[in-house]
Amino acid sequence: MGQMDGRVVLITGAARGQGRSHAVRFAEEGADVIALDICEDIPFVRYPLGTAEDLQETAKMVENLGRRCVALRADARDSAQLREAAAEGVTELGRLDTVIANAGIGRGHTLEDEDTDEVFDTVVAINLNAVFRTVSATVPYLKNEGGSIIITGSAASLVPIYNNAGYTAAKHALVGLTKCLAADLSPHWIRVNLVCPTNVATPLILNEANLTRFVPGVENPTYKDMEYVLTSVNQLPIPWIEPRVISDAMLFLAAETGRYITGAVFPVDAGMSSQPPGITHFTGRRIAELAQAAGTTTVPRD
Ligand SMILES: NC(=O)c1ccc[n+]([C@@H]2O[C@H](COP(=O)([O-])OP(=O)(O)OC[C@H]3O[C@@H](n4cnc5c(N)ncnc54)[C@H](O)[C@@H]3O)[C@@H](O)[C@H]2O)c1
Repeated sequence: MGQMDGRVVLITGAARGQGRSHAVRFAEEGADVIALDICEDIPFVRYPLGTAEDLQETAKMVENLGRRCVALRADARDSAQLREAAAEGVTELGRLDTVIANAGIGRGHTLEDEDTDEVFDTVVAINLNAVFRTVSATVPYLKNEGGSIIITGSAASLVPIYNNAGYTAAKHALVGLTKCLAADLSPHWIRVNLVCPTNVATPLILNEANLTRFVPGVENPTYKDMEYVLTSVNQLPIPWIEPRVISDAMLFLAAETGRYITGAVFPVDAGMSSQPPGITHFTGRRIAELAQAAGTTTVPRD
């Protein structure tokens, strides 16, 4: 018997990455899936987004598990598209129990960038405003049955990320949005929670543009070269985690196990958001190694 038998989950950003992983994990536990994705690239985003083929592949993976999947293109910034897609999905699958507002983009920027205002607006429109729109378009269906909304935040919901004002602002705002929605929807027995991952092995972070950003000055950098930089932000000494780990957290919150959890901010972040001030053990060891190699026991101040 599956933890989500007879239930239906709607997931935005389901063509690939974490969204696809959630679709598969929930299907393994017996859920049917409404899988939504924009399936086209967005200006100012420096890596390709999910495609129609990716979304079809997600649907195939769900169907191979013996579950049904309604896969539709919808831009999570567009309330009309979301409402239409939710209506079509619920008509086909009969109900809605869980909404995972997962669609998001990553795009760093500095105050000096020529397009900094446009980038900020784009990041906030997708990573914050679209989350609200996803909830407002789907909540009428949840009201019939009670249910659960899970929003994908980030460790950046809790701590800032360098040169990422838009991402940090949007993801921090999701903490307030989650708590407010949890309070407003509690009389309907609808729970709202926020999951905050550290780096996850998906194209949002593992992409060509980030290679040059995170590993500057190295000729032909590889993802192996990114490992040091990305490990240095976590307490547990790993650079990134697999999407399935986040899917398990989503499942815990959506299933019976989470029935009394609402308004929670749930880091799955290898300790990224709870680091004491100063440098991590990992970075400290690396500095000691570099100092030793340079024949000194002290680190120069500049
Ligand atoms: N990968 C990470 O390191 C990481 C870390 C913390 C949080 N997150 C968050 O996890 C979520 C999922 O990202 P991912 O890591 O799976 O990245 P991803 O790029 O692999 O997947 C994101 C999906 O969202 C879709 N999408 C983007 N904008 C959309 C829109 N307006 N409407 C509908 N679909 C849209 C994309 O096409 C893509 O398929 C995002 O909210 C992201 O901010 C990611």
